[in-house]
Amino acid sequence: MNIKEIKAGVYYVGVNDRTTQRFEALWPLPYGVSYNSYIVAGEKTALIDGVEISQCDNLVKHIKEIIGDKHPDYLVINHMEPDHSGAIKVLRGYYPNMTIVGNAKTLEMVNGFYGISENVIAVKDNDTLDLGGKTLSFRLTPMVHWPETMMTYVAEDKVLFSGDAFGSFGALNGAVVDEEMDVEPYIPEMYRYYSNIVGKYGMPVQKALAKTSDLAIEYICSTHGPVWHGELSRVVSIYDRLSKYEAEDGVVIVYGSMYGNTQEMAEAIATRLAERGVKKIKMHNVSYSHLSYILSDIFQYKGLIIGAPTYSNTLFPLIESVVQAIKTRELKNRVVGAFGSFTWASKAVSRINEVLEESHLLDTEIVSVENKQAPGNIDIEKCRALADAIVDKM
Ligand SMILES: Cc1cc2nc3c(=O)[nH]c(=O)nc-3n(C[C@H](O)[C@H](O)[C@H](O)COP(=O)(O)O)c2cc1C
Ligand SMILES: [Fe+2]
Ligand SMILES: [Fe+2]
Repeated sequence: MNIKEIKAGVYYVGVNDRTTQRFEALWPLPYGVSYNSYIVAGEKTALIDGVEISQCDNLVKHIKEIIGDKHPDYLVINHMEPDHSGAIKVLRGYYPNMTIVGNAKTLEMVNGFYGISENVIAVKDNDTLDLGGKTLSFRLTPMVHWPETMMTYVAEDKVLFSGDAFGSFGALNGAVVDEEMDVEPYIPEMYRYYSNIVGKYGMPVQKALAKTSDLAIEYICSTHGPVWHGELSRVVSIYDRLSKYEAEDGVVIVYGSMYGNTQEMAEAIATRLAERGVKKIKMHNVSYSHLSYILSDIFQYKGLIIGAPTYSNTLFPLIESVVQAIKTRELKNRVVGAFGSFTWASKAVSRINEVLEESHLLDTEIVSVENKQAPGNIDIEKCRALADAIVDKM
């Protein structure tokens, strides 16, 4: 049942959720998700992070497999989002003497969510907790992904419990540590997790990376997905690049189209990009691709071309959601184009430009094309010119 001794005295006791359809009621989970929880056992025992409430019984089963009828002495809370903290109140019922360890912001939330204020310890940046033979030290890493988030390090084992950082969607299919599984399916799920959940917090992630750069790390134990060991440098470099909003060569075309006119423009743009040698072209018809996957590609690739028809004197609503999601995530360093179609008074392209400019974050000017009614030869030429301009700027 996924119980694994990662290093002597450091155990994985997390759980798989294969039934929740949408993470945060938003993001699809076609391969499920794991809520990772760990035990560090010195003379005293600490449980690191909890799980979502529906999985509490499974967590307790896993804890018992490791420590039997002993009680954990501590519960360290690195992150209070309910996918990890939901089980706290029930765990307190099982283990009334277990001391809750968190920073001041964590403890305020523990009280606010679960009415627990007794038997807690507040830790500050760089504080340590001696378990006897194993020492936990804490690094506060706010906004990765909430204000209270922190990371916990075990110096004796060179293990970092990183909270959501380095996490991915996808339940764990038997193995826990990366070298004992095929990690490739988890890599796109890590991009998706980052872009959907953590994407707004590039600067805080950079600060967290800097804050942990002095630590000798052999294992990164995140709260979702595989434990990283063999792939450590790869995932750290993915996180570093994503949080700097760096991107790979390639272009994402995301468009909406009711009757095919905007789609015809999208096809013309894609054809020209390919003629210009762009190999990675990701096309999303917004009515069929979920925002989750669209964002994941947008975070991965350098070029971003957004198209939509004008709809009731404004932007086609599903594309409005996409541009708002981009604005929320403070996307930077992209080469951007916009295109659209209307019949009597245009609005779509100016609205795309408006939202992206409001965010003041896309440093390059947006290349735009808009056409009236069915795209004719001249319009198609303009679409090809848009593709050329994007390639030239990249
Ligand atoms: C429900 C609906 C609302 C529309 N509202 C506008 C509008 O306010 N202004 C306008 O110029 N065209 C409007 N149009 C026309 C479309 O923008 C135009 O036909 C466009 O070419 C459609 O692109 P598509 O074929 O990619 O869906 C509307 C069309 C529909 C179906
Ligand atoms: Fe979170
Ligand atoms: Fe999480």
